[in-house]
Amino acid sequence: MAEMKFLEVMRGKTVFPPPIWMMRQAGRYLPEYRETRKRAGSFLDLCYDPAMAVEVTLQPIRRFGFDASILFSDILVVPHALGRELRFVEGRGPMMTPIKPQDVDVLDRSLFHVNLEPVYETVRRLRRELPPETALIGFCGAPWTVATYMIAGHGTPDQAPGRLFGFSDPEAMEALLAKLAAQSAEYLIRQIDAGADAVQIFDSWAGVLDEASFEAWCMKPVAEMVRRVREKHPEVPIVGFPKGAGMLYDSYRAKTGITTLGLDWSVPLSQARRLQALGPVQGNLDPMRLRAGGKALEEGVDRILEALGDGPLVFNLGHGITPETPIAHVEAMVQRVRGANR
Ligand code: CP3
Repeated sequence: MAEMKFLEVMRGKTVFPPPIWMMRQAGRYLPEYRETRKRAGSFLDLCYDPAMAVEVTLQPIRRFGFDASILFSDILVVPHALGRELRFVEGRGPMMTPIKPQDVDVLDRSLFHVNLEPVYETVRRLRRELPPETALIGFCGAPWTVATYMIAGHGTPDQAPGRLFGFSDPEAMEALLAKLAAQSAEYLIRQIDAGADAVQIFDSWAGVLDEASFEAWCMKPVAEMVRRVREKHPEVPIVGFPKGAGMLYDSYRAKTGITTLGLDWSVPLSQARRLQALGPVQGNLDPMRLRAGGKALEEGVDRILEALGDGPLVFNLGHGITPETPIAHVEAMVQRVRGANR
């Protein structure tokens, strides 16, 4: 078996230079992605077509030889598979029919795995086609982040509709999060059954909540998911990414049981070091440093390697790469990380 550096770090080992991949590494900054996307028609058609989803997942691996590959899909296929309407509108992002408190009880689980079968097929094909040293990461959204899109019906700057829903009808919010946690855990288990080597839980909107609601709506449902996934697959690493959690990052690993903390770029490297003393971390270059390139990129990379290179680190961005980012900057980042010495 070829060694997977990514998995070694997930098990707590220090690997230097660290393994590297990028959130949103398959996407519009790549001309070959835009080409496949045009052939697919809609974004969702691309997500549900195993041949095309495999193709776009492999594109960044061919170009950059990343140490990990992330399944190409979207976090919103989970509510879609539960019968909620979903469209992706060019230039506006996801659009859903907003869920009302009375709709929570009638979410339809009956076709959940049937609807998601194309995703499981994509994972099976990917594990066969990827190089043996490249880890395959499955993923889903955290219940809170998925719920914010289900409630507002689209992206918002601070997820005010989701927060208002939770404070106005706490019982409906708890019921919604519990359902999403149960289904999302099953979804991750099926991805692991199909060949995913690790999974990541994206909680992109963790940073908009006060302390008590962060406990109740972010950490509690994620802890429940981790418990369920571990019951079936105790050995599979789970990355948690509570973007924007600030000081609340400190209790996240202990309270949820995740393996590795995904850090956004606003996490100070001093705090990152403390978090790394308790387990692996992943992150946390500002995607705008990557887009800017040059000195901004070099300094950002060097600071992370300097602060975190002597512990278990997966090098990554602090959030997804943006469509305007030059490919040459990605190449420069990979070279700088891989060429680093201590
Ligand atoms: O990382 C990867 O390469 C895997 C693919 C992936 C996508 N979305 C593809 C995608 C992953 C892991 C996601 C997660 C996701 N999706 C999150 C959590 C992470 C994050 O970025 O915060 C969220 C909140 C979503 C929901 C979503 N999907 C939004 C808000 C948007 C619109 C914004 C945008 O970038 O257009 C999407 C669309 C989306 N998801 C695209 C891609 C490649 C662009 C759609 C297109 O190609 O037309």
